[in-house]
Amino acid sequence: MKKIVVLGSINVDTILNIARLPLPGETMAMHDQSIAGGGKGANQAIAAVRAGAQTSFIAKVGKDHAADFMIDTFKHDQLDIKHVTEDENSGTGKAYILLDDNGQNSILIYGGANQTITIEDIHNAEETIKEADCVITEFETPVAATIELFKIAKKNSVMTILNPAPAKKDLPDELLKLTDIIIPNETEAESITGIKVTDENSMRRAANVLHDSGVDTVLITVGDKGSFYSLRTGVEGFVKAFKVNAIDTTAAGDTFIGYLAANLDSDLKNIESAMNIASKASSITVQEQGAQNSIPYEKQVNL
Ligand code: RIB
Repeated sequence: MKKIVVLGSINVDTILNIARLPLPGETMAMHDQSIAGGGKGANQAIAAVRAGAQTSFIAKVGKDHAADFMIDTFKHDQLDIKHVTEDENSGTGKAYILLDDNGQNSILIYGGANQTITIEDIHNAEETIKEADCVITEFETPVAATIELFKIAKKNSVMTILNPAPAKKDLPDELLKLTDIIIPNETEAESITGIKVTDENSMRRAANVLHDSGVDTVLITVGDKGSFYSLRTGVEGFVKAFKVNAIDTTAAGDTFIGYLAANLDSDLKNIESAMNIASKASSITVQEQGAQNSIPYEKQVNL
């Protein structure tokens, strides 16, 4: 069974269903509101464990009811949470998701305990990291911890996967050199490379900038169109998305990443079939509202 370590955020998502985004100064009624487990890191870890990988999670919660709510979900999914610790001076992370009638979302984040993860927390998980096949992380936790995770991983020949989300400019050179696979969406790819991703040619140019920065494998996800991959060897391709009626795209990218990591062989020879499975899984996620509750189990992802 594949062993995956995810370092990342935990958020309780409050979903606010609205017809459209309010204008400045406008007061507007919502259709509804609800709560769901979220956070990019937690969503990726849940996706990996539901895809059948033995998954360990490195994360932080606050000392509050939100932490109890999230820990219950993780236990239910048999996620290894030995390295999920508590910061008693912060609140558990929160996200406020404005979801409009077209299924488009805008997200506001309160980092809270997610921002207190330290290099020492990564060292405490060193034995678990060393035994993994791959590690995954994103940008809702401090970059210093990410770099430390990747340093330990690379020293032990563990594959490193970076989801550079939320979008950031000027990524540290050191981080890109430690990254085996980077998985941005089109907005994130543009923030990092300065190249506007509009078609396969611009994806190829953005991928080449990332290859030149030291990343061997680049995957760019482009929502309901699909995902592009480029290997440093020059091999590239595009995997089309499954056509479905999307209700809420929250956690679609996280599902893709967790499923991809759980299915990808270390020699990357099965990259297209792993991307196809990941794409099928995220096409299921978008058909239900909410993040973790909508991430499918392996048996639902029949191809
Ligand atoms: O990627 C989706 C996630 O982003 C949501 O669950 C929300 O918590 C934000 O972190």
